[in-house]
Amino acid sequence: MPSSEQANPLPFNDPAHWDKMVATYEAQSQPFTTHFAEAAVAMLPIGPSSKVLDVATGTGAAALAVARRGADVTAIDFSAGMVARVRAHEVANIEARQMDGQALDLPDAAFDAAVSVFGVMLFPDWRAGLREMARVTRSGGSAAIAVWKSADGAAVHLLLAQIIRRLYPDNVTPMPCTGLAELADPGRLAVAVVAAGFADPVVVEVTHDFKLNVANPTEVDRLFEFMPHWSGLDAEQSAAVARAFRSEIERGRIGDTFTIPSTALIATALRP
Ligand SMILES: C[S@@+](CC[C@H](N)C(=O)[O-])C[C@H]1O[C@@H](n2cnc3c(N)ncnc32)[C@H](O)[C@@H]1O
Repeated sequence: MPSSEQANPLPFNDPAHWDKMVATYEAQSQPFTTHFAEAAVAMLPIGPSSKVLDVATGTGAAALAVARRGADVTAIDFSAGMVARVRAHEVANIEARQMDGQALDLPDAAFDAAVSVFGVMLFPDWRAGLREMARVTRSGGSAAIAVWKSADGAAVHLLLAQIIRRLYPDNVTPMPCTGLAELADPGRLAVAVVAAGFADPVVVEVTHDFKLNVANPTEVDRLFEFMPHWSGLDAEQSAAVARAFRSEIERGRIGDTFTIPSTALIATALRP
């Protein structure tokens, strides 16, 4: 693994960060990621007798989509808080377990299908995450992996990056997730999926609107607390970006909603 993939300063790689985010994630992000999770799960040939793994399940968007098809789901996440939230859904055919997606505590070839929606791309060793998905998928099984089409991610991250690129093109700090940048390309995503042990990859684009509730300006300001794009800016530049962000929202809002279209790449592939 290249050393750049080991040192990752983002809170995304700290389970404690995600533990704190459970309620916010469920309220603001899961309704949005569910669209992509539904699309990814619909691409898998699964039904009531299938065993399916959801890697980095979060609050369970993909696990719930799989469970609605009657399949048995193992939903894993390294955040104890996320795992507890999925267990609290009390869905009989979902078993939620806390584990690292880069080193799954699961046997080889145990699943008919594996899915990861905006999960593996965040791992410091995202290649290991993909390899682990292949290892636990049986021969003839399949996988679906959803990533963002932009290295800037989606939703508020994407909007903020666009504003900073416009105002200070030399000061954009790239998202320090190597997987996010590397996999944000259909060709590279297909190559990575094959390198992990899958075959016959097919990559499609799926776009949905992120609907930001802008009723409360303080909440809007809090949104970019964790944004890596801030770190390359001085105080004056940060203030200018915040002003541009607010005026973009004022111009584009419809009532209390500001819409940010975001595009994912979803790769499906077979396990030889
Ligand atoms: C952006 S959320 C995606 C959640 C869900 N799949 C969805 O689409 O809504 C990323 C999730 O990855 C989990 N995660 C990050 N690194 C992980 C790792 N190394 N192993 C397992 N889970 C991880 C986080 O705890 C978080 O729940």
